[in-house]
Amino acid sequence: MGKIKVGVIGTGFIGPAHIEALRRLGSVDVAALAECSDEVARAKAEALGIEEYYGDYKQLLKKGDIQSVHICSPNYLHYEMAKETLEAGKHVICEKPLAISVAEAEELVELADKKGLVNAVNFNIRYYPLMRQVRTMVEKGDVGNIFAVQGSYLQDWLFYQIDYNWRLEPERSGESRAVADIGSHWMDLIEYVTGLRIKEVCADFATFHKIRKKPLKPVETYAGKVLQPEDYEDMPINTEDYATVLFRFENDGRGVMTVNQVAAGRKNRLYFEMDGSKQSIAWESEKPNQIWIGRRDGNNEVMMRDPSLVYPETRTLIDYPGGHNEGFPDTFKQLFKEVYAHISGDRSGPASFPTFKDGLREIALCEAVMNSNRKRAWVKVG
Ligand SMILES: NC(=O)c1ccc[n+]([C@@H]2O[C@H](COP(=O)([O-])OP(=O)(O)OC[C@H]3O[C@@H](n4cnc5c(N)ncnc54)[C@H](O)[C@@H]3O)[C@@H](O)[C@H]2O)c1
Repeated sequence: MGKIKVGVIGTGFIGPAHIEALRRLGSVDVAALAECSDEVARAKAEALGIEEYYGDYKQLLKKGDIQSVHICSPNYLHYEMAKETLEAGKHVICEKPLAISVAEAEELVELADKKGLVNAVNFNIRYYPLMRQVRTMVEKGDVGNIFAVQGSYLQDWLFYQIDYNWRLEPERSGESRAVADIGSHWMDLIEYVTGLRIKEVCADFATFHKIRKKPLKPVETYAGKVLQPEDYEDMPINTEDYATVLFRFENDGRGVMTVNQVAAGRKNRLYFEMDGSKQSIAWESEKPNQIWIGRRDGNNEVMMRDPSLVYPETRTLIDYPGGHNEGFPDTFKQLFKEVYAHISGDRSGPASFPTFKDGLREIALCEAVMNSNRKRAWVKVG
């Protein structure tokens, strides 16, 4: 049987991670890419070893042999690209966030249903194998009733005032930054592992760098040069560097999340701890191959990712033996493995992977969080 032909739109940071993971599946051929211009597309195609390239994604969508498309462009483009991809009759794997507003995301969910095409949103953190183990432990009753969940997602790549990226511009990234960019991963993961829905939120945002220094030319232009003050312009910042959000879950459990993109030394650290009526579980993304299990009446335990130790439900996400660590790139491979099993027809029925409905859910959560911060009050999730 021939390989499934795939196109990738956007090949900055995360596009190549998709391409690498797709190639590891074996059943897929990354046949084409699209970028923001012909020049960039040509350079990226050469660097990534992809034969066909386009400076306009609409040209890629016209190709009849491409069956599925990965959308890895900046946030504000996701809606129109996903919509046109579905209209072209192709399956879609979209980076998060699925869209900028609830209305856009609802339209995409409806269109994907109508077309009967496979649709996924890349909430890849669910695919660290031990996250499925935690979900399975909760489902089997090992944790008991969940009283509380607390945690954070911290980064330092926007620590300095001169750190700049399109994510700082609401017209390209959306009205929320830290919550939409990384808080969305935390909330998606927590709803996934606990099986509980967040019912109400109460948020407090802060912007520590109220003015940032935007380079006047693309940063690569300056590679190897020392920047002078005249190489920057002052940009007022309207999105949050930081947020703390309180949660009430549907079981009346409580939660709290802190997100911060200016936390020195925290490169990309998602952490959570859930406290249940039988035991507690904690995990952090910078040490993804272990979970901590806390007990009142016995020894605490560190469980290692090892196919011989986990529940069978988890084993399908583990490709290497214990001690042979799997990490960030493997989460993409495992997510795509489940998506492409549906695209190829090897698997049917309800999706085990995050779909456009999950993408919509995250945008609804982010909107509730933003409303709460604006109103300085508790807000119900719509
Ligand atoms: N799931 C994750 O862990 C994860 C991690 C990082 C980024 N992301 C998401 O991936 C998306 C991209 O983020 P990134 O960090 O790779 O950004 P990036 O800026 O590094 O890359 C974006 C790419 O899109 C290209 N692009 C811009 N306009 C385009 C157009 N009209 N047509 C085709 N290509 C176009 C840019 O030239 C660039 O190469 C964002 O939505 C982000 O939220 C997800």
